[in-house]
Amino acid sequence: MQISLQQQVALVTGASSGLGEGAARALAAAGAAVVVNYNSHAEPAEKLVEEIRAAGGQAVAIGADVSQEEQVEKLFAQTLEHFGHLDILVANSGLQKDAPLVDMSLADWNTVINVNLTGQFLCARAALRQFISQGMRPGVSRAMGKIIHMSSVHQLIPWAGHANYAASKGGVDLLMRSIAQEVGEQHIRVNSIAPGAIRTAINQQAMQGDGEAKMLKLIPYGRVGEAEDVANAVVWLASDLSDYVHGTTLFIDGGMSLYPEFRGNG
Ligand code: BGC
Repeated sequence: MQISLQQQVALVTGASSGLGEGAARALAAAGAAVVVNYNSHAEPAEKLVEEIRAAGGQAVAIGADVSQEEQVEKLFAQTLEHFGHLDILVANSGLQKDAPLVDMSLADWNTVINVNLTGQFLCARAALRQFISQGMRPGVSRAMGKIIHMSSVHQLIPWAGHANYAASKGGVDLLMRSIAQEVGEQHIRVNSIAPGAIRTAINQQAMQGDGEAKMLKLIPYGRVGEAEDVANAVVWLASDLSDYVHGTTLFIDGGMSLYPEFRGNG
């Protein structure tokens, strides 16, 4: 069975690197016109747009900080100016500002919550408003719109030294499920993806030296994930093949959320 997202428009936040970049590339390969949102790194976003266009796809790069209401509103307005409608939101932007709690500054707490949680709220709200105002698009998708929140295994697994990040992702879980409960009747599908350890820039430092070997002890499947592992799930969740999947978190983590430290322990 082949997945086609032809005639659909996808907006991917934080798409200038890592999971967002992978998701944007995969959505474009499946036929969607893609908005490559970036915050501060225009150059890699433009490069990705060129790559997508060179492969025959449609894409545009639009800058916006997802934690700022006016910038989010402008991002969605520009998306519509460019492509005329919106079918898929991948609310992916996220960052880490790690510190033991006793040393964590309020600024670092706020930055992480503002981008990872408030940013997802602002983008989901703007996407829902757009889906509702444009209505069903028969023949394009069985759903009136699809939202995919990028969460983390840390919506479930507590993470010492990263309390702001874990709290933001725990928040994303209930944000996603509450929205899903609220808009299901309108035929808008809302789900999350919870990646584990994936080989992206966010993990570069943690994987240095014996970091990767240590990480592998936490992954029953025995390998670190690649951005494509997550991108493939994004495409599936955006497509009609997952039309009955709603309000769910898909863990893409090689089994990290199985608490493998308990094998032979506890
Ligand atoms: C974090 C990574 C981490 C992974 C598993 C992700 O959400 O961004 O830094 O390696 O969770 O712990």
